[in-house]
Amino acid sequence: MKIIENYNLADCSYFRVGGKARYGLELKEENDWEQLSDLIKDVNPKQIVVVGAGSNVLFLDEELDALIVKNNYTGWKNDGGKWLVKSGTMLPQLAWEVAKDGYTGIERLANVPGTVGGGVRGNAEAYNQAVSNCLKKVIWWDWKSGEVAMNKEQCGFSYRESIFKRELDGRGLIKEVEFEFVSDDPDRLLDEIRKDKEKRQTSQPWEPSCGCFFKNVYLDEENRKKLVNTFGEEILGNLKLGEYFSAGRLIDLVGMKGYCVEGACVSEKHGNFIINNKQATTRNIFDLYLTVKNAVKEKVGIELENEVAIIGNLEK
Ligand code: EPU
Repeated sequence: MKIIENYNLADCSYFRVGGKARYGLELKEENDWEQLSDLIKDVNPKQIVVVGAGSNVLFLDEELDALIVKNNYTGWKNDGGKWLVKSGTMLPQLAWEVAKDGYTGIERLANVPGTVGGGVRGNAEAYNQAVSNCLKKVIWWDWKSGEVAMNKEQCGFSYRESIFKRELDGRGLIKEVEFEFVSDDPDRLLDEIRKDKEKRQTSQPWEPSCGCFFKNVYLDEENRKKLVNTFGEEILGNLKLGEYFSAGRLIDLVGMKGYCVEGACVSEKHGNFIINNKQATTRNIFDLYLTVKNAVKEKVGIELENEVAIIGNLEK
C-alpha cells in the first residue's frame, strides 16, 4: 500500500464532483491495516477523511488539504447465518448474497448504494429495515490503538446515527462487521429485492446523486406545530409524535421539486434528491442545498439536517 499524491475526489463521490486531495491511500488487503498505523502516524487525525463508496459525500474544496483513506477492503466469511463482513463490501452485493443463501435481515438494503462500513456508520435503512437490525459486533480500527471489538449496545444506534458518526468520528474507521441472519425462503427474498428495485426506479431518480440529502424530520411537539400551522392538520395523516416526516415530501410541499442551480437540480421524482443533471459543479450543488434548506426554514420554520456529509472549507 502506498500514499498517492493529488488524489482525485470526483472519483470518490456519487455526485461526480470534487477537485484533488493532497494525499490518498486505498485499503484492500489484510496486510494494509498493519501498515496503516505506520503510514498515518505523523498525520493530524483531523486531516484524515475516510471514504467508502462515496454515495453520501459532497467534497467542497477544489484542493483539499487532507489524506483520503479509501476503503476497498471487501469480502466476507460465513457460517450458516453468521457473516463476518469486510467493511468496504457493497451493501447491495451482501444483501443479494445473503438472500440467495436463504437468510433474511438485510434484503431491503439491496438497493442502497453504499458500503457496509458507511451503512453501519449512518445506520442506513430502507422500508423499516436498518443495517443495525441483525448486527452483532463491529471491529473498529482506531488510528492510535488499532483493532477494538464492540458489541451492538456499544455502537449507540438510532435513526441514521451511531457512535461512529458521533463520539468516534475522526478517530478511526470500521474494519469488519459481524451479522447474524435468520433462515428464510431464498425465492421469496429475491423476489422482494426485485420488487423493491422496481419501486425505487419509480420513486427515486437515476441521475448521479448521493441519495437523500437531508434526514427526515423528527416529529416532536415543536415540529408538529410548525407543520400544522403551515399546511393544516391533515398534512400529518396517521403520523404520530416520535415518528418522522419525509424531508422529500416537505421539500415537495414548499415547491422546490425541479428547482435548479445550473446543472444541479432537485429531482422531479423525489424532493430529497439533489441530482447532478448536466455537469454540475460542487458550487452548484452546494448553492442548491443552501437554497432548499433556506426555503424550508423560511416557509415552515424547520431546520433540515444533512444526511450527506459535506467535506471541505465552507468559507471558500
Ligand atoms: N413524497 C412526496 N414527495 C416527494 C417525496 C416523497 O410526496 O418528493 C411522499 C411519498 O409519496 C410517500 C412519503 O412522502 O408518501 C415518503 O416517501 P418515501 O417512501 O420516498 O420515503 P422517505 O421518508 O422520503 C426514506 C429514506 C430513503 C429510503 C426510503 C424508502 C430518509 C431520509 N430517506 O425516504 O433513504 O430509500 O425512505 O425506505 O430516511 C437515503 O437514505 O439516501 C434514502 C433515499
